[in-house]
Amino acid sequence: MKIAIIGTGYVGLVVGTGFAESGHWVTCVDRDTERIDALRKGNVPIYEPGLEELIIRNIEEERLTFETDIGNAVADKLVIFLCVDTPKGEDGSPDTGSVFEAAEAIGKGLTGYGIVVVKSTCPIGTTEKVREVIGKATSHPFDVVANPEFLREGSAVDDFMRPDRIIVGCDDVRVVEIMRELYAPYLRTGKPFLTMGIRSAELSKYAVNSMLAARISLMNELANIAEAYEADISEIREALMSDSRLGSTYLFPGLGFGGACLAKDVIAAAHLARRRDVPCPVLEGITETNRRQQQNFVSRILAFYGDAISEKKVALWGASFKPRTDDLRGAPALYIIDALLEAGASVSVYDPVSTKKLAAIYGDRISLAPKMYTCLEGADGLAIATEWREFHYPDFERMGSMMREKVIFDGRNLFSPKSMAELGFRYFSIGRSST
Ligand SMILES: NC(=O)c1ccc[n+]([C@@H]2O[C@H](COP(=O)([O-])OP(=O)(O)OC[C@H]3O[C@@H](n4cnc5c(N)ncnc54)[C@H](O)[C@@H]3O)[C@@H](O)[C@H]2O)c1
Repeated sequence: MKIAIIGTGYVGLVVGTGFAESGHWVTCVDRDTERIDALRKGNVPIYEPGLEELIIRNIEEERLTFETDIGNAVADKLVIFLCVDTPKGEDGSPDTGSVFEAAEAIGKGLTGYGIVVVKSTCPIGTTEKVREVIGKATSHPFDVVANPEFLREGSAVDDFMRPDRIIVGCDDVRVVEIMRELYAPYLRTGKPFLTMGIRSAELSKYAVNSMLAARISLMNELANIAEAYEADISEIREALMSDSRLGSTYLFPGLGFGGACLAKDVIAAAHLARRRDVPCPVLEGITETNRRQQQNFVSRILAFYGDAISEKKVALWGASFKPRTDDLRGAPALYIIDALLEAGASVSVYDPVSTKKLAAIYGDRISLAPKMYTCLEGADGLAIATEWREFHYPDFERMGSMMREKVIFDGRNLFSPKSMAELGFRYFSIGRSST
């Protein structure tokens, strides 16, 4: 099939490359000309494991091309995926401006029948409105589909290739069959292809992310109770994980969720509820707990150093909102860095892949270390914000010899409090006793 992808960011690039990999002809569009120029040369603007190799292979096979003009891209395409960003708007509802702007350009660019698939996470009613906008811009026949995306950064390629399910919200059975054919190569292990009403499909994405975020916030609240009573949340986590009704994922206490999606989607779901006067105190509470979790972490660091904070150097390991991505959007690390800088501390940061993006945000206000150990030189403490694998078994002796004070604030519970005490570190983690 001939496919166009509108919006070549974390989602669009993975989805477009994924479809090209199964043999389709894909044109990815973005209004960011620098990004498209780089991609045409095979330079991948984001870090996502396994993606670069696939992009280069599919460019070479001439199945994957890049464009800046939506009109050029959608001409002659059967399926057009809308993957533009829908960031949080001022009132909490997602800003769908880019979706409608792109929809109009799609309408103007259609040269025959096309299926326009909304993959961006959008509030209920957006896909129907996309239909209206396109209808005003074209006289060609077209259909619309809501097809929310569930890939996770850090494992996006794998998630796209092996999804838990595909959701297709559509009111035309022939279109459903085309979508089924398109996704068939990725559902060979029997994972479900779920068809439903457009509005249910749109809400499904918010429902899934709200559930996941609720789990994280509840786990963080339980961790705080555990800590207050000198219990150990990692032991409690095992009790939870062994319960077949609960499962084992999304039960790590820590700095709360970050990233471009969970936070904005929970806020958007609460906004949807408020617009129809549906009381949703649980949904509202998820965000509040998440915010507090980051504040508590910073408060602990500031309380530890007191007024001396302005003479202290704090090292930070990990900046991206989770491992295996360079995405800094909504990353707890940024909140920590901002708070430390505001308190007058000097901050050095090490992250395996997001250094360039950090430099673009902070310039020379922080120092960026090329290695995890050099980051610790002369530091009065280490804060850990992202659980990159290389942080799990560090050389503690080397760490201690480089730091001015042996203090660790671990936002990801990587080490055992008992071992840290034996190694002579002051160690603060989440939901466990401090040493
Ligand atoms: N990032 C994720 O993990 C993830 C997962 C599932 C769903 N989503 C949803 O998918 C959507 C895209 O997310 P993302 O993280 O890929 O965003 P992103 O910011 O990485 O990418 C969006 C891209 O769209 C481009 N764009 C915006 N308007 C455009 C226009 N009118 N014409 C051409 N290009 C345009 C931007 O330049 C940008 O490169 C969002 O709705 C998001 O909520 C994201």
